Amino acid sequence: MNRIQSLSVTGLRNLSEVVFSPASRLNILYGENGSGKTSLLEAIHLLATGRSFRSTKLDPLITESLDDSLVFAKLEDGLRIGLNKSRRRRHQLRLQEETQRNWESVARVLPVQLIDSTAFQLLEGGPKARRKFLDWGVFHVEHSFVGAWRDASKCLANRNALLKQARFDSAQLEAWDRELVTAAEQVDRHRAEYMDRFLPVFHEVYQQLDGAHREELSLTYDRGWAAGAGLAEELVRTRDADRRYGSTQTGPHRADIQVRLTRHPAVEILSRGQQKVLVCALKIAQGRLLSGAIGSNCLYLVDDLPSELDPENRARIFASLLSLNAQLFVTCVELESLGVASTEALFAPLSAHEMAQFHVEHGRITA
Ligand SMILES: Nc1ncnc2c1ncn2[C@@H]1O[C@H](COP(=O)(O)OP(=O)(O)OP(=O)(O)O)[C@@H](O)[C@H]1O
Ligand SMILES: [Mg+2]
Repeated sequence: MNRIQSLSVTGLRNLSEVVFSPASRLNILYGENGSGKTSLLEAIHLLATGRSFRSTKLDPLITESLDDSLVFAKLEDGLRIGLNKSRRRRHQLRLQEETQRNWESVARVLPVQLIDSTAFQLLEGGPKARRKFLDWGVFHVEHSFVGAWRDASKCLANRNALLKQARFDSAQLEAWDRELVTAAEQVDRHRAEYMDRFLPVFHEVYQQLDGAHREELSLTYDRGWAAGAGLAEELVRTRDADRRYGSTQTGPHRADIQVRLTRHPAVEILSRGQQKVLVCALKIAQGRLLSGAIGSNCLYLVDDLPSELDPENRARIFASLLSLNAQLFVTCVELESLGVASTEALFAPLSAHEMAQFHVEHGRITA
């Protein structure tokens, strides 16, 4: 059960030097526009995943006048994670004292879920966002998934490189096809098994959050190649098209989760607030499944919880998040907008040391 015990951030956006000790369950970060609330969440996300959720570029992330951003966290169980992102050299990530080549180990000890304005991508974006969502879950509950996923990605990259050549040896293509099929079937099996476990948890969470649409809403896993067909045959069938496009048109890299309300994509029917409730249900269900499956809680970064939500939905989502026993970081401009006063009963089960409010002002944070 990993929670952040102390966090320090230096040189990230307007956070020149911030040190703070979050509470173990609920942390409310409030402050004016531009004060640095989202930047704090961004720092945690960057440390845990290697990526910002606001920018794919490093440049805008590091404080204008500086060359390096540093984020350091000490977890409740004593683990220490440190990250240096620099304009001048390659980043450095350390877990305990060990330099990490990638984020795999850090992601395992510090799983994070983000609920912010980009979370709508899960419904309105292309399959990539939903695949990422699915693979996050599979990665955490099935450790052998990442190896199969890497194998499939490698085969696809090599196959695509071959397809782009004017002439190639078809025996070579067939060799990549065979390897791809083996890896892809493993990836698909892990994803399908995960979906079987995920769906009942999701429906339970969604029912608690939104009674109105629970009957009509369906989530269907699409593995990325035709149902009932073997991938080997599909790769042969689509080979001409693959050559024309110079890339593989069918396979696990095309997997998706169809989110439908009766026969329509849910995003075409649901209101903005209803979409937010659905996205929250998806993300809360993943956290619930994770703690049930491997006994580990993930950290929730919730940026601007009140936006789009009426007071009732806000309170229900808050209650659902709190029921996870996870460490939450929730931002808002004004405390009143969270309905903290009117939902005091929600916080009653938390003891004083389990929750904290922090005021964020001009890149500084005070308890
Ligand atoms: N590279 C940078 N260097 C210095 N300052 C930056 C950099 N990038 C962004 N900023 C500033 O950092 C501040 C932090 O913005 P942030 O998005 O964290 O605010 P916020 O508290 O979440 O505000 P809001 O309530 O509007 O969402 C902003 O004032 C922004 O102009
Ligand atoms: Mg913000």
